[in-house]
Amino acid sequence: MVVKTPQALREALTDKGRVGFVPTMGYLHEGHGALIRRARSECDTVVVSVFVNPKQFGVNEDLSRYPRDLQRDLTVAGAAGAALLFHPDVDTMYPPGYATTVAVGGASEPLEGSARPGHFAGVATVVLKLLNIVRPERAYFGEKDWQQLAVVRQMVRDLNVPVEIVGVPTVREVSGLALSSRNSYLTPEQRERAAVLSRALRAVQAAAEAGERDAARLRQAGLAVLQTEPEVQLDYLAIVDRDLRERERVELDPLARVLIAARMFGVRLIDNLPLFEPLPSGLDEAEALSGTGGL
Ligand code: PAJ
Repeated sequence: MVVKTPQALREALTDKGRVGFVPTMGYLHEGHGALIRRARSECDTVVVSVFVNPKQFGVNEDLSRYPRDLQRDLTVAGAAGAALLFHPDVDTMYPPGYATTVAVGGASEPLEGSARPGHFAGVATVVLKLLNIVRPERAYFGEKDWQQLAVVRQMVRDLNVPVEIVGVPTVREVSGLALSSRNSYLTPEQRERAAVLSRALRAVQAAAEAGERDAARLRQAGLAVLQTEPEVQLDYLAIVDRDLRERERVELDPLARVLIAARMFGVRLIDNLPLFEPLPSGLDEAEALSGTGGL
């Protein structure tokens, strides 16, 4: 069922148990599907929002050509277990006289924050509005947008928003390319070539797992891969700690990360990986350590 106003959504959610929420900009793919399925496995009712939020696009960005297909969104969301699709108009979210922006510090400042000024204020503003409208117990965000996840966590912590934020691992094509609505701008051949970004991230991860702790040398491992593809216009390749700070040396931390942003074939793509692959699920850390005799 599609609802277009906050009032209709509140009515549809009466007596629906624990609500899980997946905010999206639509043109849903299996990455969104993974968030919805995870929400369905943990909550009674899953709400998916589809709203291309004008406030998070810069003036020269792709707002007007951002892909849209509500019918397909209904099919993907329904198949993954969503009960409701919230699809408000821009005027419903930002009526005449609307004048508030949520400015998150800290996590929103480096990397995407400096490449796309105002982007995270737009994201934080719409996410807080959506959380206030849906009032879920849990909201699900993809690790694909690692910095966005950090910004949302920071906002929820700083503003005491009563919701649990859940991060979900990135879904990829067989080539390694992270699924993204923006991949629809690329031809199949261009998508294959865009997989070089994830190969560069893997090379950095492999070097870290092999024991390299010097950030410059780790970056070099990634840059060597990127040099094989002339189409890559690199924006950043950053090795960061759990607070998204670039350091000269990295620490063995499951939240240390390598992030990339690059323009390829006129499309800006982002991706990231943990520097150290998490333990296989189901294997608890203590068990793993006792099994190997320690790291
Ligand atoms: P959108 O790009 O549609 O993404 C919606 C959610 O799906 C985000 O949490 C994103 O991280 C997640 N996602 C996208 N691709 C994924 C993939 N390959 N694997 C796993 N998760 C993936 O992110 C936004 O929309 C907007 O900024 C939004 C949060 C909705 C605010 O407008």
